[in-house]
Amino acid sequence: MKIAVTSASGQLGAAIVKTLITEIGKDNVIAIARTPEKAKHLGVEVRKGDYNSREDFNIALKGVDAVLLVSGMDEPQKRIQQHRNVIEAATYNSVQKIVYTSIVGDDINTAFSPIVQSNRQTEEDVSTSGLDWVIGRNGIYIEPDLEYLGTYIKEGEIRNCANEGKCGYTSREELGVAYAQMLLSDKHNGNTYNLVGEAITQTQLATYINQVFGTNLKYVAVSVDEYKKERQAALGDFIGTVIAGIYEGIKSGVNNVPSDYKKAAGRSHISPLQMIQDYQLKHSTK
Ligand SMILES: NC(=O)c1ccc[n+]([C@@H]2O[C@H](COP(=O)([O-])OP(=O)(O)OC[C@H]3O[C@@H](n4cnc5c(N)ncnc54)[C@H](OP(=O)(O)O)[C@@H]3O)[C@@H](O)[C@H]2O)c1
Repeated sequence: MKIAVTSASGQLGAAIVKTLITEIGKDNVIAIARTPEKAKHLGVEVRKGDYNSREDFNIALKGVDAVLLVSGMDEPQKRIQQHRNVIEAATYNSVQKIVYTSIVGDDINTAFSPIVQSNRQTEEDVSTSGLDWVIGRNGIYIEPDLEYLGTYIKEGEIRNCANEGKCGYTSREELGVAYAQMLLSDKHNGNTYNLVGEAITQTQLATYINQVFGTNLKYVAVSVDEYKKERQAALGDFIGTVIAGIYEGIKSGVNNVPSDYKKAAGRSHISPLQMIQDYQLKHSTK
């Protein structure tokens, strides 16, 4: 059985490839990447695949039994066609199964909703493709918060508009475990899973970070408007609006969803504290 993973040069794609290698061996895994040299370190066959090129995927998916489609990074409307290039090339190559990495979120009410909407369109395209399919709706990655720790420490606080809203965070490694099982076992076919860990507030997040890193952060809630202005000033209009939209969603509860992680992965999601401890361990031994 040959399984291909798109965007394998990225952190999520790489995490899925690594878990697949331990499950089925490196000879059965194919890494597809827009920039193939960036995926060579994975130690598997690498094929070229830019989401803008249907032709790339017509070639990259030859002889593949199942493909994992990692959601693209472009602006929402562009992503839909990019993902269709992969889905159509999969059908053209008689690939049997497609698994798509979508996202948890509200598709109407926040500044992040256009991105959620484009993910929902791809979910529909995947589930009506005629192929066997499984969809994962990823929670928010916890790693970017930890990569941002230096700034949090400088400011002495975690500051955003999530307020008391709870968020089911996950990590790319945890997602790698779940997606490998979703690809390998037919019992998952036809399911859409929320891939999230235990939902926590920003205050709980600050407490766990303090516990692991010995910091003294407190959580400070600001209004959605104020936070949007701050983020736009710091990151520019597009990314600033998207980030504010994500925390607006957390505030309104859209990231506090029931978890299907155990069903998908065959074991429970690790705790938020454990994710932070694992991150700290990984980065302190580098
Ligand atoms: N749940 C969350 O919190 C969260 C946060 C951020 C993003 N996401 C979503 O999760 C996805 C994967 O995240 P990640 O951690 O793996 O991101 P990442 O490490 O930044 O990797 C992004 C990947 O997308 C690839 N890519 C960009 N444009 C492409 C194109 N036109 N065709 C093919 N590949 C393309 C990049 O390829 P190159 O190596 O060639 O640049 C890279 O492999 C993202 O694409 C985004 O949709 C989720």
